[in-house]
Amino acid sequence: MIAAVIPRFGPPDVLEVREYPTPTPMAREVLVRVHASALNRADLLQRIGRYPAPPGWPGDVPGLEFAGEVAATGSDAVRWRTGDRVFGLVGGGAHAEYVVVHESTLVRIPDAMTWHQAAAIPEAFFTAHDAMITQGALRPGERVLVHAVASGVGLAAVQIARAWGAHPYGTSRTATKLPAAVAAGMIDGVALPDSLDPLAAAIARWTDGHGMDLTIDLVGGAYLPASIAGASLHGRLILVGAVAGARAEVDVRQILSKRLTLRGTVMRARTLEERIIVASAFESDILPRLATGALVPNIDSVFALAAIVDAHTRLETNETVGKVIIEMPPR
Ligand SMILES: NC(=O)c1ccc[n+]([C@@H]2O[C@H](COP(=O)([O-])OP(=O)(O)OC[C@H]3O[C@@H](n4cnc5c(N)ncnc54)[C@H](OP(=O)(O)O)[C@@H]3O)[C@@H](O)[C@H]2O)c1
Repeated sequence: MIAAVIPRFGPPDVLEVREYPTPTPMAREVLVRVHASALNRADLLQRIGRYPAPPGWPGDVPGLEFAGEVAATGSDAVRWRTGDRVFGLVGGGAHAEYVVVHESTLVRIPDAMTWHQAAAIPEAFFTAHDAMITQGALRPGERVLVHAVASGVGLAAVQIARAWGAHPYGTSRTATKLPAAVAAGMIDGVALPDSLDPLAAAIARWTDGHGMDLTIDLVGGAYLPASIAGASLHGRLILVGAVAGARAEVDVRQILSKRLTLRGTVMRARTLEERIIVASAFESDILPRLATGALVPNIDSVFALAAIVDAHTRLETNETVGKVIIEMPPR
């Protein structure tokens, strides 16, 4: 098969698209012929040597999500038949024509959905649903703040918040991205191009001084203390990403006196059992809404696998709104 390979760490142009051994499905595994995948920050970090694949996943082929069709099944796999359209998450290796995954981590793609649309879903919607609903316990009527709201995960979070009867607000460093979040259901947003100072007043205005019930922090760094300051009594903060920095100074007294809950989360390092639980929760809560069009994928751009260098370069601009899709060559 053909795959995007990281032969050495460095800028986007270290990536090579070349022949790579096709994996073989064992016992309860399924071989999926990938039609489309998508790009994530983790792929950029892996390429520069700062985010190695967890044990058991390819170390030199990035790619955390895929949409494709079942090409073969292992000897004990019973859930899927050749030709079934499936999507899901992997710990690596999805920027390739084939991936091997456990049959219980796969989810069926709704019939009306294109490969590109399907590939825009797993990381964004699994992550947003798991952070906001499973871990964040979002309830109807609550106010939720999403940082980097026009990101892939951010736009999924906004839609899910609306679908759960909550009130989503958001931040972006880029004012021109906010209308896309409003179109996805965001009530209001604030642009923070230079400083986080405007955030406190925005939160006070949006919540009548109550503070945010739930914050989905996709960026970290200085956003953490600002989120703590803006949280309500008993507020919950789910820390999902660290593009704005891995370190922050927080006022511990605010965490104590507001009796806040802070949780960190990561998808990639989860065990098989945890992956199955996440896929199953997505399947029951999110998939039906995607099938009816109540929730929709958000695509920024589409690149052929052969143009993987351009895809990495595009994501690194920070100009994207939604997902960067990687299209596999036709067979
Ligand atoms: N924990 C997990 O399992 C998991 C899974 C998926 C994603 N993530 C993380 O969740 C975040 C969103 O992922 P995604 O794929 O949806 O992202 P994305 O589409 O690549 O968008 C990320 C956005 O973050 C903003 N940003 C970048 N650097 C920033 C900085 N220094 N300060 C503030 N904002 C900055 C940029 O938008 P603006 O500056 O224009 O606002 C950028 O477009 C990322 O941090 C990613 O690593 C975590």
